[in-house]
Amino acid sequence: MKNNTAWWLRITVAFFAVIVLMEVYIDSGDQPAFLAYPTLMFGFMALILLLLIAIAFIVQAIENVLYNTLDEEAKERYLATKEEKWEWTWGKKMYNKMLGSKPMEAEGEIILDHNYDGIRELDNKLPPWWVYLFYASIVFAIIYLVRFHVFNDYNQTLEYEQEVAAAQLEIEEYKKTAKGLVDANTVELLTDASDISAGKGIFEGNCVACHMADGGGGIGPNLTDQNWILGGGIKNVFHTISEGGRDGKGMIAWKQNLKPAEIAQVASYVLNFQGTTPANPKAAEGDIWVDPNTPAQETPVEAEATPVVIDSAAVTMN
Ligand code: HEC
Repeated sequence: MKNNTAWWLRITVAFFAVIVLMEVYIDSGDQPAFLAYPTLMFGFMALILLLLIAIAFIVQAIENVLYNTLDEEAKERYLATKEEKWEWTWGKKMYNKMLGSKPMEAEGEIILDHNYDGIRELDNKLPPWWVYLFYASIVFAIIYLVRFHVFNDYNQTLEYEQEVAAAQLEIEEYKKTAKGLVDANTVELLTDASDISAGKGIFEGNCVACHMADGGGGIGPNLTDQNWILGGGIKNVFHTISEGGRDGKGMIAWKQNLKPAEIAQVASYVLNFQGTTPANPKAAEGDIWVDPNTPAQETPVEAEATPVVIDSAAVTMN
């Protein structure tokens, strides 16, 4: 039996259709399903492939059996109808319709009657695919004109601003989850016990020589009082630890040795010293620091009128 309409073609098409369907319906987040569940998917697709091949074989076998039950005349008729490859007839018809060209034999109908040294011209119609595209672009242009120039729906500036705003939100979201990205401007006081105990470990490993284990101070200033040389509050303390103190005082820039997340932890730990009473407190140095974001209760109006800028970059003198 000849012409068993490209069974492998059908299998391939069905196989890829299943893959596409699975991508659409399996919820695998941002990743393609194949990357999210590789073994499962490969196993499943191998099974599907086997199944498709099996079906193709069975169909073929049934067809053969039925074919052999036919008489000679019926066999011929059957083969004749199979000859027309139905898969392609619709596509071919459509293609020809869209081209709209006359077949060679019919060119006589549209030939123009001038003749330049043997060169003659056909009066071809515009190809329908082109004409339809042209109409579509007119419709598009009308809708566009009315929407953007008559009703001023939105413009490129607005579109840009919306996208920037959305991106900014994403950055905020990202920074919240990525602890390592903190800097002196974004750092917040950490309160988790795990962060504080990590900060304690860092403090005891690096800082006690000058600040004492209880923060009472030695070579370095007392960290338990309200007085700060370089500014209090998480942002200033983070900045001091990260960038170091004034030149020649002995407080180095710890950003060489500590990661931003670790500096945030040790800074939070340092702020926990506030209000504790160390064994040998060093005399207060610097000014009492008032958080400009929580204005003193007695003078709320004044504090609001003259907000103190906590630009932590301004406190370093080196
Ligand atoms: C070699 C001694 C030394 C070590 C080690 C040291 N510091 Fe300091 N620290 C100082 C000195 C000195 C100052 C005062 C700097 C100045 O006056 O500019 C200071 C200032 C500070 C301040 C600011 C205090 C204020 O009043 O503004 C903080 C906060 C601080 N250190 C935290 C730390 C932390 C956290 C560590 C460990 C990671 C550390 N220090 C390690 C000597 C040290």
